[in-house]
Amino acid sequence: MPSSASVRTPTTSAETFLDHIHAFSAFGAPTAQFVEAGIPYFVNEFWTAAQRRGHSLQEISYRACFKPQLPEFFIARLTVPGDAVHDPFMGRGTTALQAALMGRRPLGNDINPLSLLLTRPRLSPPTAAQVAARLDEVPWSEGEAERAALLAFYHPETLRQLVALRAWLLRRAPLDCSAPDPVDDWIRAVALTRLTGHSPGFFSVYTLPPNQAVRIDAQIKINARRNQTPPRRDAAAIILKKTLSLLKDGPPGAHPPGCLSVGSASSTPHIGDGSVALVVTSPPFLDIVQYDSDNWLRCWFAGIEAGSVTVALHRSEADWTEMVRVVLTEQARLLRPGGHVAFEVGEVRRGTVLLERLVWQAAAGLPFERLAVIINKQPFTKTARCWGIANNAVGTNTNRIVLLRRSG
Ligand SMILES: C[S@@+](CC[C@H](N)C(=O)[O-])C[C@H]1O[C@@H](n2cnc3c(N)ncnc32)[C@H](O)[C@@H]1O
Repeated sequence: MPSSASVRTPTTSAETFLDHIHAFSAFGAPTAQFVEAGIPYFVNEFWTAAQRRGHSLQEISYRACFKPQLPEFFIARLTVPGDAVHDPFMGRGTTALQAALMGRRPLGNDINPLSLLLTRPRLSPPTAAQVAARLDEVPWSEGEAERAALLAFYHPETLRQLVALRAWLLRRAPLDCSAPDPVDDWIRAVALTRLTGHSPGFFSVYTLPPNQAVRIDAQIKINARRNQTPPRRDAAAIILKKTLSLLKDGPPGAHPPGCLSVGSASSTPHIGDGSVALVVTSPPFLDIVQYDSDNWLRCWFAGIEAGSVTVALHRSEADWTEMVRVVLTEQARLLRPGGHVAFEVGEVRRGTVLLERLVWQAAAGLPFERLAVIINKQPFTKTARCWGIANNAVGTNTNRIVLLRRSG
């Protein structure tokens, strides 16, 4: 990761920032600028995974996550070290972690408790040696194969290990514990990312990517079609291997302490008025991603009761726009005057619904200057085609970011 990004002087004035976007040509092409439906658009390849990969700690999978280069772009240009950066829909914690990596104060929230479990330990990770020593303490052979149906995914011995690890973690780091032991917290997060996948780096037999657990009956069909039975896997070895890979770029440097929460994006009373410099976020998109059903296996492992997470699906554009308006109202409360919101939406329903226009509309009348829509063009890649909604043929191939500036 470039350390220069974290020390660049922010272009805090709206005009300067837009001038910078207009003049941007780091990847060769000039920025295209036009106005449509009264909205100024700026289009370019502003960040690219090919040119510069994210920090290794960012490499966990989550449905509809954005790339770390997206928050990095705005954090580098609109904040300075020490500033607070918030994401009210934090998902796997891309923004919060990027803020920490760049010396900012990471704030984040999500309605799904999984999000907290995946994000918290990566803000201050343990060392690989600590993880290895703790894995040696797990009573691996004590698991009872209580959910026999999970044998569709796991070898009986692997399932026994997972059940043992799950019970051990729930005893040592219960979900309602706000400050669990960081090594236990880390092991749980890594195990959550290894539950299902399509390589020997995961606990399961071949299945969908790790962020989309299929139902048991669907997995039984996949096994029959591929003539496969779950192979035996060593859970501790897999967790350690992924730990080493996540830690390969080292821990985040010094940063102000983070504050992560579980709840609705529209109500974050623990964040003070005017305390945030920048919000970088991406809301649930209309009805296309079922975060709760995609996550059922992760919820089981974490001890999150199925059905306790209600992630509302906003099927109509009017409902969705209203949800965004309520969330933006909360962001206006917690942003300092001159602070910014970078609100990312994908391209859904083959571009027939332009969500950025709904966000633009939702912000009307709120204490924001509506600056522009910034579109990052990303050519499809082979990997991009098969991982996650952000890359489905009917999903997103561009990031569209509505940029707002808190007035006052
Ligand atoms: C598009 S994803 C965000 C992904 C995130 N940018 C990342 O990189 O991982 C949207 C997130 O919103 C969460 N969510 C849905 N409804 C919510 C609500 N009302 N309040 C807070 N979070 C919510 C979902 O659980 C999901 O994690």
